[in-house]
Amino acid sequence: MTGPPLLDRRLCFVLGKGGVGKSTVAAALGLLGARAGRRTLLVEVAARRRLSRLFAGAAIGADRPTELAPGLFGLSIEAERAMEEYLDMQLKVRPLVDLLVKSRAFHSFAAAAPGLPELVTLGKIWELATHVEDGRPVWDVLVVDLPATGHGIALLEVAGRVHELAASGPIREQSAKIAEVVGHPAATGIAVVARPEELAVTEATEAVAALREKGLPAAVAVMNGVCARRFTPEDVPVLEAALAATPDGAAATAVRAALAHAHRERREQGQSAQLAEGVDLPVVELPELITARMDLDGVGILAGALGASPAVAPAGTRVAG
Ligand SMILES: Nc1ncnc2c1ncn2[C@@H]1O[C@H](COP(=O)(O)OP(=O)(O)OP(=O)(O)O)[C@@H](O)[C@H]1O
Ligand SMILES: [Mg+2]
Repeated sequence: MTGPPLLDRRLCFVLGKGGVGKSTVAAALGLLGARAGRRTLLVEVAARRRLSRLFAGAAIGADRPTELAPGLFGLSIEAERAMEEYLDMQLKVRPLVDLLVKSRAFHSFAAAAPGLPELVTLGKIWELATHVEDGRPVWDVLVVDLPATGHGIALLEVAGRVHELAASGPIREQSAKIAEVVGHPAATGIAVVARPEELAVTEATEAVAALREKGLPAAVAVMNGVCARRFTPEDVPVLEAALAATPDGAAATAVRAALAHAHRERREQGQSAQLAEGVDLPVVELPELITARMDLDGVGILAGALGASPAVAPAGTRVAG
């Protein structure tokens, strides 16, 4: 393992292919952090609505953190709003900010400036992570639910890029500070999520390679949605023999279902092994929950499974899920 357990780092990012369960895993990590007594902020990076105000977080507010569970708060960051806040801080003249933000030219500029939405978003995350009140940090842990792989990596690497590009001045200094924190495995950890599917495993493997190349601290891989482990490899020939002996009837149907499950288990184990080898990180498996709709109970079960991993659970708090 390189670096401390994921939740002992102040900044935890969740990255992965679209639809693999990033938001679910982020919620579970947030819940685990809160259960471990850390003041935890779950950050949703608004679905990159390209500077529109369309995003209206259902339960998670964009103005101030909303308490989601004891010790767990949620906040949605929208690039446009973050940009407005940034300008407000820099210009200190509100009417000027309003004028700028309302101008069409500003929006065309903001949409065209490469990396600007990412930079203000990451800047906002950094500001939250380093925010101190009464001499102590407001948040022990931030868990950031990133957009899908390519956009997620663009966000993670933006400070380093800007630092390289900016000739001098406050932007260069600020981005250097942010890049240092985001690149430091004591402060930051990235969880890369996959599902037991070829494409998701390949994308996770490539994502980790890209993170390493950019000096960004990949901490753990999560294989989300694995089926229940019911059979051992030795069970397969026994089931096959049973089916050969009695190929028809209700019993055969049941044995076929069992065999199908056993084969799925083997396939998924192969994919987990492939992921572990490809990313060279600890892999945490999360069960597929059979539920019509993911709810807090489900997230709690996944939090328990994450908490059983020494690569994830904060030191001294590990409890079996
Ligand atoms: N372990 C699990 N068991 C059962 N269902 C799950 C599990 N993890 C995620 N899901 C379901 O899979 C769907 C996708 O999950 P989620 O929204 O977390 O993915 P995502 O990676 O954040 O997607 P997006 O890229 O669209 O943001 C959701 O319906 C979620 O409830
Ligand atoms: Mg999501």
